[in-house]
Amino acid sequence: MVFQVGDARAISAGEVDALIVVGASQIWGQPVEDAQPLDYTAALTAMRAMLKPGDRVVYGEAIWSAPPTPEAIAPLAGRVDEYLSLAALVELVEGHGFLLADFGEASLGSGTSSSRASLRAWSTN
Ligand SMILES: C[S@@+](CC[C@H](N)C(=O)[O-])C[C@H]1O[C@@H](n2cnc3c(N)ncnc32)[C@H](O)[C@@H]1O
Repeated sequence: MVFQVGDARAISAGEVDALIVVGASQIWGQPVEDAQPLDYTAALTAMRAMLKPGDRVVYGEAIWSAPPTPEAIAPLAGRVDEYLSLAALVELVEGHGFLLADFGEASLGSGTSSSRASLRAWSTN
């Protein structure tokens, strides 16, 4: 097995058998400075396009674990819709042609509204 590290946007269709994408969805979305909601859809669409049926993905991304407070959004994009909930992200992942093997949520610390979602999936037909 060969692990390849590099610009994920430069991977062409079928070039890899698996992807690990953790906290990097923003590379397929609008510039972070635009303070738009995190574009999970652009990331999932790009990942799906690189993979063949049966290829595997580990996807980790920020989510809201609770409705965000003004204090939570202030250092981020300043908007409550920047992240999805875990349930909404699961639905989005499945809607993009991935079969979930498992998923979970890890808190980033007490008193915060944000967490990290971790999902393991297969690309399907
Ligand atoms: C928010 S950090 C997340 C770091 C770490 N994975 C984590 O979750 O704590 C964004 C990551 O995206 C990576 N990154 C930025 N542009 C990238 C690209 N074009 N292709 C692949 N990774 C990229 C950066 O190297 C950085 O590690």
